[in-house]
Amino acid sequence: MKFTGANILSVDQFNRDAIEHIFRIADLMEPYAHRRKRTRVLDGAILGNLFFEPSTRTRVSFGTAFNLLGGEVRETTGMESSALAKGESLYDTARVLSSYSDVIAMRHPKSGAVAEFAEGSRVPVINGGDGANEHPTQALLDLYTIEKELAHHGSTIDGMHLCIVGDLKYGRTVHSLSKLLCMFKQVNITLVSPPELGMPTSIVDLLESAGHKVTQVSELSGSMDADIVYQTRIQQERFTNLDEAEQYRGRFRLNSEIYTKHYKPNTVIMHPLPRDSRAEANELDNDLNQNPNLAIFRQADNGVLIRMALFAATLGVEHLVSRY
Ligand code: CP
Repeated sequence: MKFTGANILSVDQFNRDAIEHIFRIADLMEPYAHRRKRTRVLDGAILGNLFFEPSTRTRVSFGTAFNLLGGEVRETTGMESSALAKGESLYDTARVLSSYSDVIAMRHPKSGAVAEFAEGSRVPVINGGDGANEHPTQALLDLYTIEKELAHHGSTIDGMHLCIVGDLKYGRTVHSLSKLLCMFKQVNITLVSPPELGMPTSIVDLLESAGHKVTQVSELSGSMDADIVYQTRIQQERFTNLDEAEQYRGRFRLNSEIYTKHYKPNTVIMHPLPRDSRAEANELDNDLNQNPNLAIFRQADNGVLIRMALFAATLGVEHLVSRY
């Protein structure tokens, strides 16, 4: 895969070499992200950071990553503050904003909207999440986290057992992560969700075609024997009827007691965040906050490294970072 000048719209664009390339650039970004070194490699460059749907981590980490490379960030947040609210097309918005920026990161509530926007853009566009469709940069940082966490236990993505729990129908992060896992070998995947919120059949088919063992269950039972448990939030914003979302809230909690009962003592706990901390939901309890296997904040930190790597690669400066 050639990164320079490319849009990053879907994990379908990646093969295993491309993933490896981005992960090794991300490794090189660590001293810059942790302020031990400085670079101005993107001095004078502008990121258009367009978030038409709420975000904390993705929006801020895109901006932070760009700043850490020496570039500047122009933000648009919320549909109501953009001319999209007056009926302007994504194409026109892209044509205009792409002449103000060197690269654009974008989140939009509609599936396919970021790809539609990219058709009008004259600079690379990076998908920060489009509806229930994809969240490719989250999937890359999730996989990077899995690689790093498993390395501490002397194991690898190939051959691991991953348990994904919660709303697998609307959770775009697990769609993108599952597609990336198709490039690895002999992954054992247990999907835990109510049947109505199950992983789309098309993605289960992809996982099985890749030779992975996929087990779908509606409850945790016995020992899950998982290397990683990936909890997700009920994506209430994707339901047409909020009462429907309500009936699933709280069905898939993870707290210290449930963790000890169903998982190994070193099972790594992940969640893309935000976690819904309201008592009626609480899919990942605060009583796990001191558990060393809780990787959620290391996972969020890795978002900066991966997004720095993607900016460096799409703008073709990955070999120049240490020189400026
Ligand atoms: N994981 C994630 O996409 O978080 P935000 O919605 O805060 O960006």
